[in-house]
Amino acid sequence: MTQATLHQLNILEAIARHGSFTRAAEELGLTQPTVSQQIKQLTKAMGLPLFDQIGKRIHLTEAGESVLIASRDIADRVAQLEMHLSDLQGMEKGRLRLSTTTTAKYFVPRLLGPFHQQHPGITLSLEITNQAEVMQRLSNNEDDLYFTGRPPRDMDVELRPILPNPLVVVANRSNPLAGLKNISLKQLAEQPMIMRESGSGTRAIVEQFFVDNRLDVNPIIDLTSNEAIKQAIVGGLGVSVLSQHTLALENNESPLVILDVEGFPIQQYWYLVYPSGKQLSVAAQAFIDFILEEGKQSIEETLSNTLQ
Ligand code: PGA
Repeated sequence: MTQATLHQLNILEAIARHGSFTRAAEELGLTQPTVSQQIKQLTKAMGLPLFDQIGKRIHLTEAGESVLIASRDIADRVAQLEMHLSDLQGMEKGRLRLSTTTTAKYFVPRLLGPFHQQHPGITLSLEITNQAEVMQRLSNNEDDLYFTGRPPRDMDVELRPILPNPLVVVANRSNPLAGLKNISLKQLAEQPMIMRESGSGTRAIVEQFFVDNRLDVNPIIDLTSNEAIKQAIVGGLGVSVLSQHTLALENNESPLVILDVEGFPIQQYWYLVYPSGKQLSVAAQAFIDFILEEGKQSIEETLSNTLQ
């Protein structure tokens, strides 16, 4: 096992992520024969097959899964070591991998500019996907920090609440309910309801709200993007319940309005999450400090200026 190299573990990690030798080779700037050769040597060092090929797709064997988990831990430790040594040299370097739900993308990317100005040596990456996939990435320990409105209940995680996340009913400005006060849930249920896809955190919260209020809504379509939902509302397809953050760039001229419906906004929170016991890199710790000290305040200001 001591014959295995960091380079080989890195290649295995890329293959596991892409499910393909070819795409892993492309990402790492290597030829395919080099990748195959390195994996052959790694397999020999581990003494068990690491991959199965089913059709065109490559799958990890149980041994491969164990090596993958160890490789990610080792990569984390190496990144920390790099950062620590850079710190000792007085220059802050390293990488910070963030993962956020499609709805948190309305505020997380805004934090990157000011953070980068303070820490120009840190290379940033941001993965944006729905709640279910962010949770999958968290359980695989693929990134440094995760942002979500629905923290996992079945995983041992560190949780930092960062911002309020009000969910509001969004409608077309020409909807007859626009401008009315205290619209009843019964009136809301009569509106065609545009929903996020299953796997979305927003959908899970909204469905729970409907169940809690015994509301039989009238779903018209599921869409996988908040922006697509906003466009469908503008086109007159129906109304939807969205995070108010999705309206960050809308103003009072917008074709969208927020309806004043009883029980709304649904008050939720945004959380920064990472696995309990994870050794945070210096970059990840710097990002947490940055959010709690100043980033959070600037986002709260942005939210107070969105469509009300
Ligand atoms: P999503 O995110 O609806 O875009 O999945 C919301 C959340 O994190 O709760």
